[in-house]
Amino acid sequence: MAQERGLSLLLALLLPVVSASRPGTMVRLNKEALSYVAEAGKAPLQSALQVTVPHFLDRRGGVFQPTRIQILNVHVPHLQLKFIAGFGIRLFAATNFTFKVFRVPEPLLLMLPTTLLADTTVEQGSIGTPVVSVSGCFSFFDKALVLDGRNSTASALLAPLQNHIKAVLPNKLCLRISNLVQGFNVHLGTLIGLSPVGPESQVRYSMIDPPTITDDYISLNINAVLFLLGRPIVLSVDTTPFVLPPHVGTRGAMATVGLSQDLFDSVILLLQKAGALNMDITGQLKSDNNPLNTSVLGQLIPEVARQFPQPMPLVLKVRLGATPTVTLHTDNATLRLQPYVEVLAPASNSAFQSLFSLDVVVNLSLQLSVSKVRLRGTTSVLGNVQLTVASSNVGFIDMDHVQALVGSVFEKPLLDHLNALLNMGVALPHVVNLQYVTPEIFVYEGYIVVSSGLLYQR
Ligand SMILES: *[C@@H]1O[C@H](CO)[C@@H](O)[C@H](O)[C@H]1NC(C)=O
Ligand SMILES: *[C@@H]1O[C@H](CO)[C@@H](O)[C@H](O)[C@H]1NC(C)=O
Ligand SMILES: *[C@@H]1O[C@H](CO)[C@@H](O)[C@H](O)[C@H]1NC(C)=O
Ligand SMILES: *[C@@H]1O[C@H](CO)[C@@H](O)[C@H](O)[C@H]1NC(C)=O
Ligand SMILES: *[C@@H]1O[C@H](CO)[C@@H](O)[C@H](O)[C@H]1NC(C)=O
Repeated sequence: MAQERGLSLLLALLLPVVSASRPGTMVRLNKEALSYVAEAGKAPLQSALQVTVPHFLDRRGGVFQPTRIQILNVHVPHLQLKFIAGFGIRLFAATNFTFKVFRVPEPLLLMLPTTLLADTTVEQGSIGTPVVSVSGCFSFFDKALVLDGRNSTASALLAPLQNHIKAVLPNKLCLRISNLVQGFNVHLGTLIGLSPVGPESQVRYSMIDPPTITDDYISLNINAVLFLLGRPIVLSVDTTPFVLPPHVGTRGAMATVGLSQDLFDSVILLLQKAGALNMDITGQLKSDNNPLNTSVLGQLIPEVARQFPQPMPLVLKVRLGATPTVTLHTDNATLRLQPYVEVLAPASNSAFQSLFSLDVVVNLSLQLSVSKVRLRGTTSVLGNVQLTVASSNVGFIDMDHVQALVGSVFEKPLLDHLNALLNMGVALPHVVNLQYVTPEIFVYEGYIVVSSGLLYQR
């Protein structure tokens, strides 16, 4: 088996690397996702806004007295993020700054309610990551309230002090918001990280268009590139871009992720090329795993009985020559496999000889689920496993007799193997520390939709 896999990997390496087709996915982040980001963003914003304030020149008695000012606390009771259709995202924050003014003889405590407004655009970065940039940033200061130090010349000081703060603070605050956004971009950049799909195969997602922004969502056209042994694989060149229709999935979900048929076909093709779908079902006498032996087969095929008077275990070599096909119909995902199965028996020289081979067709129903960031599958056989003789070294084979026997030997190990593989799953578009929670999956004609909440966890 190792040899076979090595060979198929080698063949994959020799494939011409044409600009790989890019199976489409579309990620729509809805208003609910922005509310979540806003809630999570309060604490980082609060600490980002703790800037240093330049000294204030207190003019008393005709002399300028440099006076130290310190921000004791920033409170952000309200942070809102809103989509601005065709433009970007607007940040609105109601904040309260508490200042300590180190005035002699006694310090003054001030509270300054401030509204921050920042407009950001979201663009497609040069390496296919989403990039947020601040395009406008404003601070609106309300009247300062004196908390302590009333017993003094506070009122005379208040107006020039406020003017000083208004002059020096806005740039500093906007710079901090800008830095926060940069940090966020670094995080968003992890979208293009490689995630494993199966043995020596990986997927990488990246943005291929500028995002579409409406009042309700931002839609990112994110395509997958699949890699086998570090090289992009060539897929069916389907040039129709995948478009996720509006109003699919669950209303009120944070994220709506559409996965095209093309993505499924590509992942299956990748697994096939990697040889991951191939398997050997090896027999041992008196074993439950593969009860097939020459003595039981000899009762159905006389030539087998003649060649093997002593019972011998049989090996089934299962190879996926034809690429499996995934079919997506409303509420119904199926997978069709057409393996080639060779039935082998031990030969005298410790090698194996082929008794006969079969072309198999098996339809499987595919159940999908999402856990953390991975889309997983489970299959079960739909209908009958169809077997036809492809070649025989043991004369005529009456399939009516052999069908049930071989079918049953073959079915369970195939399902176990396939389900173990599909259970590893394929990563959905994601960034680090973010996972899909309470996902729901909908199968539509030619695509599937994952409606999900998001959870950020460091
Ligand atoms: C700021 O603090 C003052 C005094 O505690 C309070 O009256 C006001 O509502 C606060 N404003 C905001 C936006 O939290
Ligand atoms: C007000 O301040 C003056 C001088 O700073 C001080 O002598 C006086 O005790 C203060 N009064 C009160 C009520 O704090
Ligand atoms: C051969 O297979 C049959 C049917 O599974 C089984 O009953 C029998 O025990 C097997 N013989 C040996 C020697 O394993
Ligand atoms: C799904 O489609 C397959 C193939 O068309 C069909 O055999 C099966 O009954 C369908 N299952 C459901 C649940 O509709
Ligand atoms: C598999 O499904 C296809 C399409 O629904 C159908 O034409 C075919 O007969 C099925 N084959 C088997 C072996 O169930």
